[in-house]
Amino acid sequence: MVSLDQVVEDAKRDFDGAADSAALEDAKARYLGKSGILTERLKSLGGLEPEARKAAGAEINQVKAAVEAALTARRQALADAVLQARLSAEAIDVTMPGRGQDVGSLHPVMRTWERVEQIFRSIGFDVADGPEIENDWFNFTALNSPENHPARSMQDTFYVEGVDEQNKPLLLRTHTSPMQVRYASAHVARHAKDAVMPPIKVIAPGRTYRVDSDATHSPMFNQVEGLWIAESVSFADLKGVYTDFLKTFFETDAIDVRFRPSYFPFTEPSAEIDMAFGSGKLAGRWLEISGAGQVHPTVLRNMGLDPERYIGFAFGSGLERLTMLRYGIDDLRLFFENDIRFLSQFPA
Ligand code: DAH
Repeated sequence: MVSLDQVVEDAKRDFDGAADSAALEDAKARYLGKSGILTERLKSLGGLEPEARKAAGAEINQVKAAVEAALTARRQALADAVLQARLSAEAIDVTMPGRGQDVGSLHPVMRTWERVEQIFRSIGFDVADGPEIENDWFNFTALNSPENHPARSMQDTFYVEGVDEQNKPLLLRTHTSPMQVRYASAHVARHAKDAVMPPIKVIAPGRTYRVDSDATHSPMFNQVEGLWIAESVSFADLKGVYTDFLKTFFETDAIDVRFRPSYFPFTEPSAEIDMAFGSGKLAGRWLEISGAGQVHPTVLRNMGLDPERYIGFAFGSGLERLTMLRYGIDDLRLFFENDIRFLSQFPA
């Protein structure tokens, strides 16, 4: 029979060797269970003399207490290990930045859009909005670009599925100019019964689309159309308004503006508006900023207006271009990459 000291040794070794609480309970049963070693030893005391039984019993109980203490210690150690494993598995790095929401800001092109609206509203222009999926009539034909007209190939068009009432394919508008005819026709209809039609003064900012993509062209871009029709307006009025707009927009009076002859089917004569800053990095360089012109008689008729009575001026400018010049941005693609390092430079 092994000595009681040895039993304590064995129990400690078995307990320490138990890898989890199930193994530990098995080991416990071998020593303290109903037929465990120590239980058997206590049972065997029955055959001894009372004095000897008392002494031996006390000794076994001491050993039992030592075994129980070892068991408790191992139980605690196993529980600690389980807790420790859970703590490290579920550890959170309290120094990591939280997932809170930052304050966003308007996209720089949207800032330009809003600024342009605000400036033109302040001088009495209405602001209009229209469909980005257009039909052939408003995007081309009404604007004096009939089918097979070479001017149509000036703009590479995205066509979409579906046709209009004329069975012509629908398209993504290639410019905001269709808004000229949409707005003017509605204005004419609205004032059909009036003795005098109030002048048309409107801008129409919006998204436009062309099959084009490089550092200076994006398949989606933004334009603002301007239209001013009355019984007597002139190029001088357009030039005055547009020059004032540029000075307000760029917050400087040191801007030169020139009209350079150009061609657009919906205006005659047509011009390219160039501007030059009086100071700064771009000082003295002529920069193309807008198309413009006198509304073509055919277009006026398509609006329901008599070209003998009404005269109109129009312009179409790129909002990205205005934005790039205002902030000194040299790559158009920055606007569409959604890079927070770029966008956060334009706080609210
Ligand atoms: N629609 C022209 C384009 O996208 C720009 C333009 C030129 C608009 C002359 C006008 C205008 O209203 O008069 O290229």
